Amino acid sequence: MRSPRRRLRRRLSCCSAEAASRALSKKLHIKTYGCQMNVYDSGRMADVLAPLGYTGTDEARDADLIILNTCHIREKAAEKVYSELGRLRAVKEARARAGRPLLLGVAGCVAQAEGDEVRRRAPHVDLVVGPQTYHRLPELLERLARRAGAGVLVDFPADSKFDSLPDNRHVTAGAAFLTVQEGCDKFCSFCVVPYTRGAETSRPASDVLAEARSLVAAGAREITLLGQNVNSYHGEGNDGRTWDLARLIAALAEVDGLARIRYTTSYPADMSDELIRAHGEIPQLMPFLHLPVQSGSDAVLKAMNRRHNADDYRRIVGRLRAARPDLALSSDFIVGFPGESEADFAATLRLVEEIGFVQAYSFKYSARPGTPAAQMDGQVPDPLKAERLALLQELLNAQQIAFNRACAGRVLPVLLERQGRRCGQLVGRSPYMQAVHVEADGALLGSVVPLRIREGLPNSLRGEAMGVS
Ligand code: 5AD
Ligand code: SF4
Repeated sequence: MRSPRRRLRRRLSCCSAEAASRALSKKLHIKTYGCQMNVYDSGRMADVLAPLGYTGTDEARDADLIILNTCHIREKAAEKVYSELGRLRAVKEARARAGRPLLLGVAGCVAQAEGDEVRRRAPHVDLVVGPQTYHRLPELLERLARRAGAGVLVDFPADSKFDSLPDNRHVTAGAAFLTVQEGCDKFCSFCVVPYTRGAETSRPASDVLAEARSLVAAGAREITLLGQNVNSYHGEGNDGRTWDLARLIAALAEVDGLARIRYTTSYPADMSDELIRAHGEIPQLMPFLHLPVQSGSDAVLKAMNRRHNADDYRRIVGRLRAARPDLALSSDFIVGFPGESEADFAATLRLVEEIGFVQAYSFKYSARPGTPAAQMDGQVPDPLKAERLALLQELLNAQQIAFNRACAGRVLPVLLERQGRRCGQLVGRSPYMQAVHVEADGALLGSVVPLRIREGLPNSLRGEAMGVS
């Protein structure tokens, strides 16, 4: 297998040796917005750029290349990117005057959705890459080095980026993301994802398994499988058949050293019998599921073009809990969707009360250009959206706090992932995705440790160490 450095040499073959050696000591800062798929992509962009000599820095001011890995899902998220680019313009100009040029890149879904428009609104941007083309960052940088102009690459290429990404993966502390599926064919009427991320595609199981093994070899004990619609995974299996997510998870459960498996984000109508059964049968599969419902009103769900109604969702949750009684649920909600009445909103509150969520994300509906809902009658005024959001969040927060408090006194296995803010403190994750703070030896980072939970706080747990598993 060709090493990343050799690939780099090939890519840089037309640059001078001097330019190459200059490139071999540069700092990269990636600012990630939005979902976990972007977190994964940011890591992979760092992997792609490492052979060019780019090392990561948390400090934007030290960077030679800053990439904003962007999110387009709500208007606020997209506008944040442009205001950050405005701020970086002054930084870039100051750096040019000081003789230490700064390169600026825009990646992710704003890049994909707006393409050339990004450079029209922010001409100081040097490169624009979509979620499917970031493996070609070295080529764009080379073009810039040759002063062949800024690069915009936002197509949906026939060849998969996954075939070109380096094999080496970095795992900082025990937990890693692994993208297995991309894109979405569901076309919820409010959502830009089918347009920015394209049609559903799944990676072959053998690629996923190889990446999982390399993550475990690099220290991962937990892998979260990622996809916009991860439970519609339908990849080519090792046996020549099409594998669904349940089959893929069963194969991953055989990977030695992999203690925990999670997957996100799921679409309710794609929760198959096999996948529900897997929750009861595969101990590595963690008892936590993010299953966005969006609304508790059938009329709103229909207008959203969701393929489930509120009772379907209740039934799916009932079956999941029958398979895995301690399953904790998280969800996404949109309030103020066009036409949402008081009664529709009350139905959402009712559903939340019945199901009980341990964590949730809730948003005011944001009209996105090009989506059907943006054209619908009955747009809800912002103050009413804000009022409903506050009520919903009050209920969801109360459920989260009650769940956290109920964990006090239990012993939970916690994967210790990072240093805490306080000296001697580590932070990990419970099986139910709660952050757990504990005073413990740094040598335990990256291991799953049973902790006695002393206290349940609104956003985290406080634990006490007992021993290593
Ligand atoms: N307005 C508000 N929230 C949205 N989401 C997606 N599109 C929109 C929009 N136009 C939310 C959904 C989705 C989550 C990732 O973002 O709840 O599940
Ligand atoms: Fe967007 Fe709906 Fe697809 Fe989720 S399922 S990515 S909300 S279109």
